[in-house]
Amino acid sequence: MARARGAALAVAEGQRTPQASPPNTAEALLRWYDREARVLPWRVRRGRQDPYRVWLSEIMLQQTTVKAVIPYYMAFLVRWPDVVSLAAAPLDDVLAAWAGLGYYRRARNLHNCARIVAREQGGRFPDSEDALRALPGIGPYTAAAIAAIAFERKATPVDGNVERVVARLFAVQEPLPACKAELKQLARTLTPAARSGDHAQAMMDLGATICTPKRPSCERCPLSHGCRARALGIADGLPRRSAKPERPVRRGIAFLALREDGHVLLRKRPETGLLGGMLEVPSSEWRETDVSFQKAAQSAPVRGNWTAVPGVVVHVFTHFRLEMQVYRTVVEVTSKGARDPKKGQWVARRNLDRVALPSVMRKIIAHGLRTK
Ligand code: ADE
Repeated sequence: MARARGAALAVAEGQRTPQASPPNTAEALLRWYDREARVLPWRVRRGRQDPYRVWLSEIMLQQTTVKAVIPYYMAFLVRWPDVVSLAAAPLDDVLAAWAGLGYYRRARNLHNCARIVAREQGGRFPDSEDALRALPGIGPYTAAAIAAIAFERKATPVDGNVERVVARLFAVQEPLPACKAELKQLARTLTPAARSGDHAQAMMDLGATICTPKRPSCERCPLSHGCRARALGIADGLPRRSAKPERPVRRGIAFLALREDGHVLLRKRPETGLLGGMLEVPSSEWRETDVSFQKAAQSAPVRGNWTAVPGVVVHVFTHFRLEMQVYRTVVEVTSKGARDPKKGQWVARRNLDRVALPSVMRKIIAHGLRTK
């Protein structure tokens, strides 16, 4: 708060000091939400929420956009309408249905969590933040979101959208991530005892549609009268962020073996670690230094006439940026490699949509086929 006060004091002496967020912020926000809430498939307006649907949507929405999540959410619900059916599904089916959403550890945790809730808790999700946090894949944000939305607990989920709204309302000028705890605390002061689930979702909607990162639509904002950043004319620049260290780069060579009859050679990654248990295009190790084809060729999955595909496939993971060169070979159906690859399995290209293949691997395959 010290910085926010500092901001207020920065206004010329004698001018009206920008107001603190007024006590009726929550009311104004809920009135706005009642008129303007986004229509989203996991939202129930007035009525009992199904904790399974709330949980499923919140796990999918971790680090993914609403637009990207909607088709996945609908497909999951059709296939697994409740936690018991999801718990009974083979993990590989869940991973395959998740493919494209990214962060596959979330899918593994989702499945694991479904099993625990189905088998140990009679198919019922716990209703407190603490008990929810004890389940796999449920961190503080998701626990608060589920507790508020599904169970009307007075809980305050704070994601990037909410951080932005709060940083502006209170003109917090200390940069992220240092001010995270302060923003959380300030967000809590806004949460009403009643309709906490609607309040949480209203904050999310406000951040997504009005209090946007660039050029916020303050003239349409239901909270603009109490917004300190607006009064100071600094809304656009908040929240500030400390410069992030650059992502390290890793490089590798991917071996795309194509069989004449429309199959590609894939292998399963180790169960633990990045993209654990998913399929991949066989590749060299991913290293910080350049990888030479001569050295990497030892890890080629079949003998063949490997040719370099021009260009590089870039994929940004949370902790590094991957740059892959792609080499390709076409294998005759009758060759030894076609019958018996050193490692891996031939997968029909028409079935690629149905297997647990992460986005980076889809990019590699698309790149390798583009110049065929
Ligand atoms: N982002 C995360 N959870 C959300 C929700 N329930 N509604 C809209 N956006 C969200």
